[in-house]
Amino acid sequence: MPVNYNGRMNLGEKIIEGERIITSGQEVIGLEKVSMGYLSGQEVLRDITLSVGRGEFHFLSGASGAGKSSLLNIMALSLRPSKGSMRLFGQETTGLAREALPPLRRRVGTVFQDYRLIDHLTIEENVGLPLKIAGEPKRQIAEKVGELLEWVGLGAYHKARPEILSGGQKQRAAIARAVITAPDILLADEPSGNLDSALRLKFMYLFQTLHKGGTTIVLATHDDTLISMFDYPVMRLKDGRLVR
Ligand SMILES: Nc1ncnc2c1ncn2[C@@H]1O[C@H](COP(=O)(O)OP(=O)(O)OP(=O)(O)O)[C@@H](O)[C@H]1O
Ligand SMILES: [Mg+2]
Repeated sequence: MPVNYNGRMNLGEKIIEGERIITSGQEVIGLEKVSMGYLSGQEVLRDITLSVGRGEFHFLSGASGAGKSSLLNIMALSLRPSKGSMRLFGQETTGLAREALPPLRRRVGTVFQDYRLIDHLTIEENVGLPLKIAGEPKRQIAEKVGELLEWVGLGAYHKARPEILSGGQKQRAAIARAVITAPDILLADEPSGNLDSALRLKFMYLFQTLHKGGTTIVLATHDDTLISMFDYPVMRLKDGRLVR
């Protein structure tokens, strides 16, 4: 089913409207023979080599437990590979010191499967945090957060703490926080896992709009119906390996 987006949205510095920016094909995420295991056990990602070009949109699919979140967390610099290497924006990240990571992370918006909202901050503070870290003036932050919270349907929850939100509401707040800077890369882990079908499409429109504005997107989902509705390439994981 083709999906058209006729809306207009002001995200970060970009006014997003119209057609996709033609991309140069320059790599923004590159993994070379990456393997990873958690402390407690065996490898859950094995020998993964992949390259994502600037402006591309990829689905990341696979059964529950296949390793989607682990792989996305590596791309998000939230986990480190135990073997192999990863480049982000052309820069080798594997040997980087901890202090060198935040400037790279700031260019990446991540929707974690478990949301990772900060409990002691309100929803508006959570969503505005990436802008605050980027040093934007308070007034501008309030404006952008207000507009985005309305759009995601959380206009009544500015001052609420995450704990009183439903799963789907937390998910929408997590998405808002990830997209508010119009990041160069958006990594979204089951971003519609807790949304009903109407909201699921609304948020796919949002991701498509960001993509048209030039954002590179990797969206993890085990929802094959969702994948089949769009014409984006699919990276498929099976037992920690990329398969065709
Ligand atoms: N923190 C952790 N400690 C130990 N093992 C973990 C941890 N997180 C995930 N795993 C294991 O890593 C494997 C891959 O998990 P991962 O969460 O990456 O899968 P997934 O494809 O995202 O699954 P889902 O669709 O259920 O979200 C699983 O076998 C899981 O048990
Ligand atoms: Mg997962």
